Amino acid sequence: MERRTELELTRELLGLAQSKRAWLDESVSGNPVSHYISDERFAAEQEHLFRALPHPVVHSSELPEPGSFLRRTVAGLPLLFTRDKNGVAHAWLNVCRHRGTRLVDDHSGCKHRFSCPYHAWTWNSQGELIGVPHEAQGFPDMDRSKMGLKRVGCREAYGWLWVQANTEDAPGIDEALAGLAPDFDWFGASDLTLQHSTERLGRANWKILVEGGIEAYHFRVAHRKTIAPYFFDNLSTYRSFGTHLRSVLAKKSLAELGQQPEESWRLREHSQVLYTLFPMNMLLVQSDHVAWIQLEPLSANETRIRVNTLVPADRIETPEDLTHWQKNHDITVTTLDEDFDIGESIQSGLASGANESLTFGRFEGALACFNQSIEQVLSSQSAKT
Ligand code: FES
Ligand SMILES: [Fe+2]
Repeated sequence: MERRTELELTRELLGLAQSKRAWLDESVSGNPVSHYISDERFAAEQEHLFRALPHPVVHSSELPEPGSFLRRTVAGLPLLFTRDKNGVAHAWLNVCRHRGTRLVDDHSGCKHRFSCPYHAWTWNSQGELIGVPHEAQGFPDMDRSKMGLKRVGCREAYGWLWVQANTEDAPGIDEALAGLAPDFDWFGASDLTLQHSTERLGRANWKILVEGGIEAYHFRVAHRKTIAPYFFDNLSTYRSFGTHLRSVLAKKSLAELGQQPEESWRLREHSQVLYTLFPMNMLLVQSDHVAWIQLEPLSANETRIRVNTLVPADRIETPEDLTHWQKNHDITVTTLDEDFDIGESIQSGLASGANESLTFGRFEGALACFNQSIEQVLSSQSAKT
């Protein structure tokens, strides 16, 4: 984010806070309940959103050195991530090319040879088949070069491994970020390391969980026991970057800036800046660290949620630092659990027939914007097929 933008956003929030006004869109809107419970809808999202768009899936610090590997399910596909001897990161289908066994069972580790637990066909960290027991007798004409691990589109950029699962080609990340790349520099994305991670199953549609993060209308009520006292009631703004969103949620301390020179203004210290990386990743930029909320949609009604705390890599040295990050992670998890519990509560009543659609007020415009982007992507893709 350019300094000019940081000042503009700060001025905007300050003006709204001083005049006690909310940031309003043109009109009230809504979204059909069926979009959150339909299996057909979920299948279309899987195909056209989760597999067809690049997403940050693994943080670079989770593959810290040559030989590091980990496995993860992405859009229903079992993936193996490796970092080869040259430090280059790759994504593969974690499936043996002989008779299909899961190649790697360990969740993470460090090695350059991956031997199948069934008959010991072996691949290296560049996906090349390097060992086949009794090959000459059993597979006399096999061309090893055609039996490499199946590659999945992956590129390392801004501190993440981004995956586009429906292609072998590495996705273009700057293009996909639609103008957000300077913001990654602004919050120091490349210098972060993953310090804590907590996983839970959310019994809610993934969109409900995204929507819970992009308005401040609920803060005073739903977060009254945690963060509400630090924030203005119902004060947030947002901007679109292609299909992505940048929302800014103002803290009460922002009011002090009115008496201070603009040169001293630091938006991060007086707000939470939330990036919704379309469609299902969120980066919550706080004053000295970043929370990465990673959603893995499992079905129309279930989502695996990982809450990760990313911290500056040069601030994990002292015991005080470690205590500080643990405390911050715990606060983040406790607060987000309040949102996720409400998400589950919403999901449990969706099929009841009480609502045909969910209603978004004028200060919940980011939710409308998010759902319009989904509509546009799905309708443009289904028009092609
Ligand atoms: S299934 Fe993997 S080596 Fe046979
Ligand atoms: Fe919330």
